[in-house]
Amino acid sequence: MTARKIVTPPNPTLRRTAHKVRAFGPALQTLIDDMIETMRVAPGVGLAAPQVDVSQRVIVVEYAEQPEDPEAPPRPAKLYAAVNPEIVRRSHETVLGNEACLSLPGFMGEVERHEWVTVKGQDRHGRDFKLKPKGFLARIFQHEIDHLNGVLFIDHATEVWRIEEMAAQENLPPV
Ligand code: NI
Repeated sequence: MTARKIVTPPNPTLRRTAHKVRAFGPALQTLIDDMIETMRVAPGVGLAAPQVDVSQRVIVVEYAEQPEDPEAPPRPAKLYAAVNPEIVRRSHETVLGNEACLSLPGFMGEVERHEWVTVKGQDRHGRDFKLKPKGFLARIFQHEIDHLNGVLFIDHATEVWRIEEMAAQENLPPV
């Protein structure tokens, strides 16, 4: 696993529609492993392949969903690697929340997202999966899938502001 360089604007890969993955061989396995390492080193809770200058439809997410009951024990982070992820259903309800992005260091914004989405795609071995993330996990998936379509959160944020990078790391993990 090698941490790769995270690209920032105006790198054109960030603005391209990424290509569908058709081969699940060693190159894809290396890409996914490197993306996991890159996300952890950054650190962030999500990363899309265009952010490491690879125009392919691959995302990784690592996030600990916490139980609604404050008395319940905290849950460990869950790691997802999604190939060709696609949002096939979305809630009518939307929520406003803050986001940051590893490709836009120093910025934060308020973005309206669907409360929950249904994501279909393949895992790293090409097996189909379906997932129904809600809350912040749903926000991460929407943010990462946007990256695969050349969209950055600042494109549809209701508000964007500059932040101290250190403060950002403490408040909100970027994706
Ligand atoms: Ni991002």
